[in-house]
Amino acid sequence: MKLTLLGSAALFLLQTLSTAQAATNDHHHGPTEKPNILFIFTDDQDARLNSIDYMPNLQKHLVKQGTIHRNHYATIAVCCPSRVSLLRGQYAHNTNITDVSPPYGGYTRFNKLGLGESTLPAGYHTSYIGKLMNEYSVNNYNNPKPKGFDYQDQLVDPYTYVYNKPVFSKDGEAPVYYKNAYQTDVVHAKGLEALKKHRHSDKPFFLWIAPMAPHGQFKMGDNGSMTTEPPVPAARHAHLFKDVKIARTPNFNPKQQTKTASFWKELSHLNTTIVEQFDEIHRNRLRALQSVDEMIGSLFTELEHQGKLDNTYVVYSADNGYHIGQHRAYPGKCGNIEEDINVPFIIRGPGIPKGKISDVVSAHHDIAPTLLALAKGSQFVPEWVDGGVIPLTKQLQKHPKPVAKESFAVEFWMDSSMPEFYPELKLSGSNVYKTLRVISKDYNYMYSVWCTGEHEFYNLKKDPYETTNVYDHIDPQLVNRLDALLLVLKTCRAEACRDPWRILHPDDRSVKTLADALHHKFDKHYTQFKKVAFAECSPFFSLPNEQPVVGQHFLANRTLNDDQQFPKAKKVEKTIQKILRSSITQHPTDGIVDKDDIDEVIRLQKLVPGPDNQGLVGATPLSDDFETLATPVPEELVNSNINWVKHGYYTSFGN
Ligand SMILES: *[C@@H]1O[C@H](CO)[C@@H](O)[C@H](O)[C@H]1NC(C)=O
Ligand SMILES: *[C@@H]1O[C@H](CO)[C@@H](O)[C@H](O)[C@H]1NC(C)=O
Ligand SMILES: *[C@@H]1O[C@H](CO)[C@@H](O)[C@H](O)[C@H]1NC(C)=O
Ligand SMILES: *[C@@H]1O[C@H](CO)[C@@H](O)[C@H](O)[C@H]1NC(C)=O
Repeated sequence: MKLTLLGSAALFLLQTLSTAQAATNDHHHGPTEKPNILFIFTDDQDARLNSIDYMPNLQKHLVKQGTIHRNHYATIAVCCPSRVSLLRGQYAHNTNITDVSPPYGGYTRFNKLGLGESTLPAGYHTSYIGKLMNEYSVNNYNNPKPKGFDYQDQLVDPYTYVYNKPVFSKDGEAPVYYKNAYQTDVVHAKGLEALKKHRHSDKPFFLWIAPMAPHGQFKMGDNGSMTTEPPVPAARHAHLFKDVKIARTPNFNPKQQTKTASFWKELSHLNTTIVEQFDEIHRNRLRALQSVDEMIGSLFTELEHQGKLDNTYVVYSADNGYHIGQHRAYPGKCGNIEEDINVPFIIRGPGIPKGKISDVVSAHHDIAPTLLALAKGSQFVPEWVDGGVIPLTKQLQKHPKPVAKESFAVEFWMDSSMPEFYPELKLSGSNVYKTLRVISKDYNYMYSVWCTGEHEFYNLKKDPYETTNVYDHIDPQLVNRLDALLLVLKTCRAEACRDPWRILHPDDRSVKTLADALHHKFDKHYTQFKKVAFAECSPFFSLPNEQPVVGQHFLANRTLNDDQQFPKAKKVEKTIQKILRSSITQHPTDGIVDKDDIDEVIRLQKLVPGPDNQGLVGATPLSDDFETLATPVPEELVNSNINWVKHGYYTSFGN
């Protein structure tokens, strides 16, 4: 995960919420009028494999009482770049946080940004519970103490991705573990405690709860090797869903391969043994989500108890989607397929229609501006965000900075496709592409250009499961439009992302959609643009590699034109650039790891004991006095200063 920008992102959102509060007070509105925001954010949860259908509390309190946005997308289908994109309100091509692995991120760099020094003015009370960031560990939990939120209680490495060894640090205090407890249950209990703190306060709150579920689990082998395993459910849910299978959609393990680019075309048909394993992985994901669903139930009970249900926006989403067996793929994310990019986005609260399904097209970079607008701080949405305001309520429909009308880009830069749980599976072929999605009432297209020069075009109106690449058969005039639109979106910034047609038609404001641009009077106009292409398959975003480029606003030359409103933003921005420039110096695999070293790491890691009976963890939910279970992590481990990155954490599993 790229912590640097995660930190500044949090700063952006929080600073802005706080400023919004102050401004509204000037207009004599009392603080009680400010809506609270509860944001529940899971890890690797699909929208396409029907996982939310198995979450009764989510259905009852969110789907039935709110609006589900079925056209909401992550524009980069892997944890950290996606989270940064969400928090910054920007595409990954503007954060240049394009990968999960160090050296470009980490808690250390987060702190070099000086975020720990920021003090928030009066306004929202902000809390963060759960998965914060990679490299935030038992060793650096207080070096320095995280200060981005008023209250925080976060998972620490190397146990973040271990379900039955929950280890947390609260407000930078010495890390503690909860023996025999199930991680999501601890997140649940802590999230509820954080909410209960607001029982006697009128101050509006922003509470972010981030369970690690249903992400896969990390496992360090006896020889120090790192692998992943499917998610582990709480014992009380382990028996559920025995008959559930992955939906056998037309793209599930097809007889003839459906996806034709790069490594996808090499994937073999899966045999019955593998398919049965995949079904069990799917069931374990659903089981792991049950504890999240129980947490949702408790949070709503508490909101109701506080009488705050009507003044709270509750948002549910996930960092990226997930695939298992679609187009023959082994479990994972990182693709440009619907399963990976389409994510749950459900919201309820004042002014949000109940039980509605919305087809408005939106992306993760729209969430920060939208939350700010909901908090009535819209005038403080800075100019440089790529996202716009999702028209969730009547009032937001009139917002001057709306979301992009129907299109967005999906991007990715990695050497591999990172399949999980099957270390023996070796796939060759780059995972670098630019994908365009255009969705409206009348059309639904996916157009993609790979670093290999391969193209894809799927017509999702006719072919919702993307089973037939018809690139070779489509009208060249349509390709011209799609390619030009992708050309703009792949490097767009701010307004150009929300209204890319202004770049393509600077003098004709009547062109607002693909349908408008398809008028034959523009056929000649669209022959002039250079085609989207890559010089080579590079696992990072390099401008020379991705010519042509529209716009001159990249990192080396990024300016903020709203420094007055955000005096700190410029400083943060400068620091980010400095760090990005200096970050290429060390690589995690630098330095030889010798055998003794590994033995020592394994020994130290085991100082936090596993449960007495692995199969019985989470037999019942945690009781209110769960904090009595908290046991300090042995000092020997805390003082050990292990470089977990060097030992294979985060480098290959796409956290
Ligand atoms: C460690 O053990 C795993 C099996 O548990 C094996 O696949 C791997 O090759 C081993 N690695 C080393 C460095 O010996
Ligand atoms: C099924 O496929 C896996 C992966 O290719 C292979 O290891 C296994 O031997 C196959 N099993 C059968 C019964 O063919
Ligand atoms: C930086 O941006 C400014 C203003 O957009 C532009 O005039 C200048 O050419 C850019 N410089 C580079 C090196 O791209
Ligand atoms: C993104 O970061 C990498 C590594 O620091 C750098 O080489 C590249 O030039 C950056 N890309 C852009 C467009 O700034």
